[in-house]
Amino acid sequence: MKALVLSGGAGTRLRPITHTSAKQLVPVANKAVLFYGLEAIAAAGITQVGVIVGDTAEEIQEAVGDGSKFGLEITYIPQERPLGLAHAVLIARDWLGDDDFVMYLGDNFIVGGITDLVEGFRDNRPAAQILLTHVPDPRSFGVAELDPDGQVIGLEEKPENPKSDLALVGVYLFTPAIHEAVRAIKPSWRGELEITHAIQHLIDVRADVRSTVIRGYWKDTGNVTDMLEVNRTVLEGLDRRLDGEVDEASETVGRVVLEEGARIVNSRVVGPVIIGAGTEVRDSYVGPFTSIAENCQVVDSELEFSIVLRDSSILGVARIESSLIGRHVEVTPAPSVPSAHRLVLGDHSKVQIHS
Ligand code: DAU
Repeated sequence: MKALVLSGGAGTRLRPITHTSAKQLVPVANKAVLFYGLEAIAAAGITQVGVIVGDTAEEIQEAVGDGSKFGLEITYIPQERPLGLAHAVLIARDWLGDDDFVMYLGDNFIVGGITDLVEGFRDNRPAAQILLTHVPDPRSFGVAELDPDGQVIGLEEKPENPKSDLALVGVYLFTPAIHEAVRAIKPSWRGELEITHAIQHLIDVRADVRSTVIRGYWKDTGNVTDMLEVNRTVLEGLDRRLDGEVDEASETVGRVVLEEGARIVNSRVVGPVIIGAGTEVRDSYVGPFTSIAENCQVVDSELEFSIVLRDSSILGVARIESSLIGRHVEVTPAPSVPSAHRLVLGDHSKVQIHS
């Protein structure tokens, strides 16, 4: 069995995290979303992975390399333009050969991995196995309609009037039956060859299409609350590991991960928390559900339930909560006179000021 990971698509910078134009590289608990997918694939015993790349190929290849750090053998498959998920299957046809495969959208995050799913698929080998999840607004997803027995009877891509609240999750398992289906379909109104339509084609020709409903699903929609939430979920699964330095005046409580080269000085850190290499926390409090990336400085400050990306400093600020702080950001107190906020905010920033 192989895996086809989709990390193509056009670069976009409209989300709150703007340092990467590849949405697959948005970090969750100090690690790119795509890496969780690759780790889940490796854990399921799959080693041959084709990665579809587009405009952001360079960024993706730099981050993932040859796959050896995940125990994977990676082949990059360039896609000239984002012509659709089914188009990705079309162009990967030769590389896929006649193997079964899991197709994994690189910007999707699934709590708990895919090992059970892959094992179940290996035993039964339906033409397609899809994953569904309940979402509050299904209109930006593929949506499934099930009969009373739970059998999938119809799929629609981003319907205006969804027939259910069951969204298609971006992990699909296929036998080679999918190749005929992707050749049978036409581009949708948005000009893409939709995998949803290819699976609908399988349903129409009475192939065996099965579904599983899962919980613990996330994809970046640019919503900070959701991002803090997925960060929290991942941090909850951390095991305590202190590879960095903690001085005697400091206290670390519970699941704290301190990467090598990170330092905690005269501070209190209450997990779950992850602190990246080269980051210093001094004379500060860092509370639960916080991820601080590499090379940051948190000095004389209080921080909780927040995400801080690399190379940022928080100096003399109490207290920051429920916040997402990008790269190379400085947060400091304003001089007491005049009493004014001084802000240098990038595009699409959002600030809530307590005054
Ligand atoms: O995330 C789940 C949803 O993914 C499903 O519910 C939908 O049925 C499915 O069509 C897809 O919808 P999106 O419109 O959200 O997909 P998006 O264009 O964001 O692409 C998903 C991933 O695949 C993303 O990492 C970029 C990559 N991609 C996308 C296209 C269209 C490619 O590599 N090549 C492509 O041609």
